[in-house]
Amino acid sequence: MTDSLTQALPARAAALAADFDRELAAVEASRSGDRVEELRVAFLGRKGKVTALLEDLRNCSKEERPAAGRAINELKQHVEARVSALKEKAQEWELGARLNAEPLDISLPVTASVPRGSLHPVTLIRRELLNEFRRLGFTVYDGPEIDYDFYNFSALNMPSDHPARDMQDTFYVREQEHLLLRTHTSNIQIHCMLNERPPLRIVAPGRVFRVDSDPTHTPMFHQIEAFVVDRGITFAHMKGVIDAFMKAVFGSSMKTRLRPSFFPFVEPGAELDLQCVHCQGKGCRLCKHTGWLEVGGCGMIHPNVFEAVEYDSEVYSGFAFGFGIDRMAMLKYKLDDLRQLFEGSHSFLGHFPLFT
Ligand code: PHE
Repeated sequence: MTDSLTQALPARAAALAADFDRELAAVEASRSGDRVEELRVAFLGRKGKVTALLEDLRNCSKEERPAAGRAINELKQHVEARVSALKEKAQEWELGARLNAEPLDISLPVTASVPRGSLHPVTLIRRELLNEFRRLGFTVYDGPEIDYDFYNFSALNMPSDHPARDMQDTFYVREQEHLLLRTHTSNIQIHCMLNERPPLRIVAPGRVFRVDSDPTHTPMFHQIEAFVVDRGITFAHMKGVIDAFMKAVFGSSMKTRLRPSFFPFVEPGAELDLQCVHCQGKGCRLCKHTGWLEVGGCGMIHPNVFEAVEYDSEVYSGFAFGFGIDRMAMLKYKLDDLRQLFEGSHSFLGHFPLFT
């Protein structure tokens, strides 16, 4: 290396910086990642221009070295910083180019089928029933599924030695504490009457539990309880309400029938039958050739029940009824096994609509 060359190092660094800036501008304008890499190799690579300058520094005289070294280092830092900034930009260029190159046609039809959910038949029927009750001016009320014997039995005119308790096989949670799974939604009558004052027009759907399992009984099932308490309420009011909402759910040709029956918490009491939807009352296997299907119980609230909640039975009267929702879903959707409702089979449940 000649002296003139080594002495010119700071000047060469300045010239190289200018060269670099010019090429940088061109590479930036090209928006090409490859050219960024080429630029890096050309200046910083093993045989790059900045590297060559650094090598020349070795031939530099001692006096000149500090100034030349500083100039070349500044150049190197400048080049490195610009190249790495451009590398980052190059990634954005590439992404933009890829998105442009892969056209997305949002007007194309979807080929994969999108699975859609549906509502459970019990949910469908419960919604329909509640809508009809609301239309008739009833208020929806809730009550506990785990309850004390008092609400489920005693206050409903079934003291502990009452033989009517044998009618229902009860799941006890803690028998010593008289805590059980409610066997019917009638417990809500007691909770409600203890908390509110008449007049009452209440509807209360819920889950109930009994030790029972066959094609028409499951250990858990759904009931809907309704009751009205006011002055001058009669059995005829009850029959009118039952008829109105059964017709609303099953159609205006649906016939209902009340049959005298016994429940300790009503007097008089009756069982409610719906005309069989399969055979329209002609008689078939489902209705055991009677033409009728039993869906629940009803009656005028017993004076002893009013006494338990401290209502004056001389002033107030009321009716109550409780129906199996699952039974009604079976009738409405023509199902032959109640247990289907609780198996959670996708192929079965998928047949029901998403909306009512
Ligand atoms: N709770 C009764 C049952 O589950 C039905 C019922 C409700 C009867 C209200 C009369 C009045 O069998």
